[in-house]
Amino acid sequence: MSSSSTIGSALAALTASGRAESRLAFGCDYNPEQWDPSVWAEDIRLMREAGVTIVAINVFGWAQIQPRPDVFDFSGLDAIIELLHEAGIGINLGTGTASPPPWLSTKHPEILPVDADGVRAWPGGRQAYCPSSPVFRAAAQRLATEVVTRYGSHPAVQLWHVSNELGCHNAHCYCDVSASAFRDWLRAKYGTVDALNTAWGTTFWSQRYGAWEEVLPPRHTLSAGNPAQALDFARFSSDEVLECYRMEERIIRRLSSVPVTTNFMVTAHIRNQDYWQWAPYMDVIANDHYLDHRLPDPHQELSFAADATRGLAGGDPWLLMEQATGAVNWQPRNITKVPGELMRNTFAHVARGADGVCFFQWRASAQGTEKFHSALLPHAGTDSRKWQEVLELSRALGSVRELAGTRVVADVALVFSWEAWWATDLDSHPSEELRYLEQVHAAYRALWEAGITVDIVRPGADLSAYRTVVAPSLYLVRDDEVKAVTDFVAGGGTAVITFFSGIVDQDDRVRLGGYPGAFTNLLGLHVDEFFPLAAGGSVTLDDGATGTVWSEHIVPGAADVVATYADGPLPGSPAVTRNTFGGGSAWYVGTALDRPHLSGLLARAAQEAGVDVPADHGDGVEQVLRRGPDADYRFYINHSDETRPARAAGLELLTGAAVDGLELPPGAVRVVKTKREE
Ligand code: GAL
Repeated sequence: MSSSSTIGSALAALTASGRAESRLAFGCDYNPEQWDPSVWAEDIRLMREAGVTIVAINVFGWAQIQPRPDVFDFSGLDAIIELLHEAGIGINLGTGTASPPPWLSTKHPEILPVDADGVRAWPGGRQAYCPSSPVFRAAAQRLATEVVTRYGSHPAVQLWHVSNELGCHNAHCYCDVSASAFRDWLRAKYGTVDALNTAWGTTFWSQRYGAWEEVLPPRHTLSAGNPAQALDFARFSSDEVLECYRMEERIIRRLSSVPVTTNFMVTAHIRNQDYWQWAPYMDVIANDHYLDHRLPDPHQELSFAADATRGLAGGDPWLLMEQATGAVNWQPRNITKVPGELMRNTFAHVARGADGVCFFQWRASAQGTEKFHSALLPHAGTDSRKWQEVLELSRALGSVRELAGTRVVADVALVFSWEAWWATDLDSHPSEELRYLEQVHAAYRALWEAGITVDIVRPGADLSAYRTVVAPSLYLVRDDEVKAVTDFVAGGGTAVITFFSGIVDQDDRVRLGGYPGAFTNLLGLHVDEFFPLAAGGSVTLDDGATGTVWSEHIVPGAADVVATYADGPLPGSPAVTRNTFGGGSAWYVGTALDRPHLSGLLARAAQEAGVDVPADHGDGVEQVLRRGPDADYRFYINHSDETRPARAAGLELLTGAAVDGLELPPGAVRVVKTKREE
């Protein structure tokens, strides 16, 4: 397992951070097998022109390098590796196991995944395998062993890229092999069927199991199924896909000393991997991020994902393994980036701790599913605006090379949990409008708009470095996680907890005695009934705020009432409270507050806790601070259409100009370096 300091040093090998030649990694997925070898020389020449330092190859190479069950052909890969090596371009080498070739699924159709209705997927796309399949695993193991044996000591290989976005399409398989693996996992967790019955509450609805053979994955049922079963299946599925990674990781560690990682998907639309459990096995934390135009504020979700990725890296720098120069091809409408947006997106990742920025993919495909996905080199070639932007971006990253190895500074923590996400979004809850990620994003956006940088932390994390912690809709919470927040407040910290938090334990069992069970004491109140709002409904608070989605009957104990409902089902009842607890305070928000009021409330709570909240916030300028051993680097990213002033003094790295006060043109990015006097 990697500690966070080895994450930093593994990435430092790619960025040479802290040394005179330091740089930020800049690169892409490179799929040369799509092209005639005559194109490769031009690729390499243009990669050098664009300042590419690292490329991911062999990610989907399986069918090329193992064309038949007993035939391996590395000639193409050998040639590419040598070309890149000669050009001084580092390699992020795929183990090649991401997508089984047709011969494997033809010979072994039982590796194909099965959905909750019992329908087996066909081959023809990608990642069509059951993560628990011993046949798939043996084949992947064999391929990975061949690849690592051949290239494990090659001087150009800087990073191992295990598989690709593990669990992107196949996270949940319901086949009989998965069912058996699920039972093994449950047996290891519970020991006895009786213990499982207790944890799952199977006495209700006549679901009691008498033997392990009776236990199944949560396949499609007529009514809603057992929620604890669904929750355990989500945990099992994450563990099972992680085990696919670990199987390859073990091979790599045996045969090579090059750092190992895989690309995470900390995004808005994929929630199936509990990356808090995965992170310890990575030498470098790497994320893939694509703007999601189905969301109201894609660039704020980008910032959230970047902060969450840094959280997974324990605060150390991390690697953006994939993003797009423009449009993707897998959303309903594939919106491209307007001029300047690529620079803003990239610098938002860098501001939030990325020490390397890579893209999918090098050259836009002429064929196949992703031919309309943007790339560094578009279909139009170098005679294009996109190519000029890529060159400009590469130059800009060159001018901030000294950032490598520096760390983001944050006084506020936001608790985020994949397990709570799965649990909150289970069926049969008070309101289908309460979706965990939406509430997390709402809190994050409110903090973003208040100009407050946050660290995203796991539940139960040590909070002692922070002044304020925010826990949005943390429905499922374990006792030790409750204690972490309670101790933090008792010791002088400020917590802000929002509705539908603290409701159940790890088995999805309601904590009795009034909601929010786990936090009633800390918050100095209890809730005796939920009053979710009708679809599209809203309530007004006496301070003018609007609440949506949720309301509830709060009975204050020690807590002070900060705001009450002016209308709706609970006029005169508390909506927002604040409790003094030990040396600190704990705020509670009982409804989904509108953006400006949630932002104002979080800014007030943070400010009262001593957080430095910028006075000029709320103007669409993203501000983040990275700190090095002897300098501070302040990022300013103007997302607005107006020129914005900023009080910054120092050396602006992108223009090379000394500044005392900034005028930020619309869309501009600036990084101001200030020497620190120790
Ligand atoms: C990622 C994947 C890449 C490519 C990209 C397109 O999910 O790792 O292979 O498909 O998306 O956006």
